[in-house]
Amino acid sequence: MSGPAALLLSALGLCALAVVGQAGAAPAAMPGVANPEQARIDYILKCQGCHQPDGSGDIAHTPPLKGEVARFLHVPGGREFLARVPGVASVDLSDARLAQLLNWTVLRFDRAHVPADFAPYSAAEIAQLRRRPIRLERQATRASLVTAIGDRAQGD
Ligand code: HEC
Repeated sequence: MSGPAALLLSALGLCALAVVGQAGAAPAAMPGVANPEQARIDYILKCQGCHQPDGSGDIAHTPPLKGEVARFLHVPGGREFLARVPGVASVDLSDARLAQLLNWTVLRFDRAHVPADFAPYSAAEIAQLRRRPIRLERQATRASLVTAIGDRAQGD
């Protein structure tokens, strides 16, 4: 093989190596998640029975987290809502474990919609929010947030 073709081939080879290198690199950073493995296990034990392993939920009862959940972080009241829904607020985990799990949930299932200036939930914030879980009014609350998300999307 002559000069330019050989050069091109070796350049392609280097690119391939770079791609392989990236695949083996550490997973993307998860702010507010000190222990992703713990969060993953907490999700399996406490959440996926309803929300499914891949966060897809089910049409009848459980909204999808996948590709959706972080949209709430863009509308007023949405951040609080995520921590106050019953499945989150009343889970038997410490405030610190729950803060980590909720941060992991939004980053794992909907990183694309996480706002650039997202400040991870802290244990103190979770402690305060979970004290006021939403109960009967949750469907109305959720519906008005979803409307706000829709209005926002149309404004984009
Ligand atoms: C018993 C089924 C069930 C379990 C268990 C459950 N959820 Fe949910 N989750 C729901 C339902 C239903 C909603 C919709 C709001 C509502 O009616 O409570 C919801 C809403 C949410 C929301 C708000 C997003 C939205 O679209 O409404 C988040 C975030 C969430 N769940 C995360 C979790 C996490 C994290 C866990 C585990 C700690 C968990 N859920 C456990 C059923 C469940």
